[in-house]
Amino acid sequence: MKALILSGGKGTRLRPLTYSGAKQLVPVANRPILFYCIDNIAQVGIKDVGIIISPETGNEIKEAVGDGNLWNIKIQYITQDEPGGLAHAVKVAKDFLEDSPFVMYLGDNIIGGGISRFLQDFEKNSPDALILLKEVEEPKSFGVAEVSTNGNVLSLIEKPEKPLSNLALVGIYIFSPNIHRAIERIKPSRRGELEITDAVQELINMGLPVESFILDTWWLDTGKKDDLLTANAIVLDEWLKVDIGGSIDNASKILGRVAIGKGSVIKGSSIRGPVIIGENTFIENSFIGPYSSIGNNVKIRHSCVEHSVIMDGSELIDIERMEDSLIGRRVKLFRNSRHKALRLMIGDDSVVEV
Ligand code: G1P
Repeated sequence: MKALILSGGKGTRLRPLTYSGAKQLVPVANRPILFYCIDNIAQVGIKDVGIIISPETGNEIKEAVGDGNLWNIKIQYITQDEPGGLAHAVKVAKDFLEDSPFVMYLGDNIIGGGISRFLQDFEKNSPDALILLKEVEEPKSFGVAEVSTNGNVLSLIEKPEKPLSNLALVGIYIFSPNIHRAIERIKPSRRGELEITDAVQELINMGLPVESFILDTWWLDTGKKDDLLTANAIVLDEWLKVDIGGSIDNASKILGRVAIGKGSVIKGSSIRGPVIIGENTFIENSFIGPYSSIGNNVKIRHSCVEHSVIMDGSELIDIERMEDSLIGRRVKLFRNSRHKALRLMIGDDSVVEV
């Protein structure tokens, strides 16, 4: 069994953050989204992992992930020169995949509970595809499956205008090598891409067995700001361990599960977990409320923050209350009491709500 992780794409829905970096490296609880996906693959003992990268963000991904040593696996990088779709990515990876069955994992998907039971099921029943489904409110934004009462997949449509169910395709699939035959038979979709959804439908058309599982744990596709904040909150809730590496003065109060990295200093502040704070970060006379992730080398003074992600190198000064916010790297946010007007320098596609 091999694994193919898709970590290309442009991340348009997470702009402006994705102008300067890959969406799969946006942090959730201070770790890149992609790392959770590699964790899940390494946990089931898969050693041979291919990562699809794009020419634009590939180097950054390679630098962050490395050769797999961190997880005791072997990683091979495969460049997809054009955004030709998920099934196109499988085509590009054919030399790596050879005739092996494989787990295909979209690098911006996070699920609770790991993938071992799906793998066991695949190995027991040997279908040609095992797909994961999850009930969602907006099925139009996903691949959608129509499933019979006894669990057989009847049809699959990518981003349908009139969805036949509320069961969305989760971005984790297990395939037999027959998927390559199905991909050879499909045509590009309306958005001009070779869709993996169409390839799975083609397996059904070919009379080959496709199994589905309705995921009973949480699933998040971290494409947008609010999805990312939710993923951050859930990961902090479920996986954060108390770990105090920095220094906290006597005037500060730490409540609940809080992790503070090496070299960070907390003065006269209240931190109410679950909260993670990176390394060499300075927090003074501030309140950091639940479900916040603060990166490395951040400075926060005289401010209140809740349910937010603040990335490396940013500064917040005299901000009375900030919540539900996603702040990129090296952002400066401060109140200037001499001016009533907002004075902004904001990058393209930013969203500011005042
Ligand atoms: C892709 C798949 C879609 C699936 C989704 C899950 O969509 O095409 O079927 O439901 O991932 O994250 P995309 O992220 O390319 O829009």
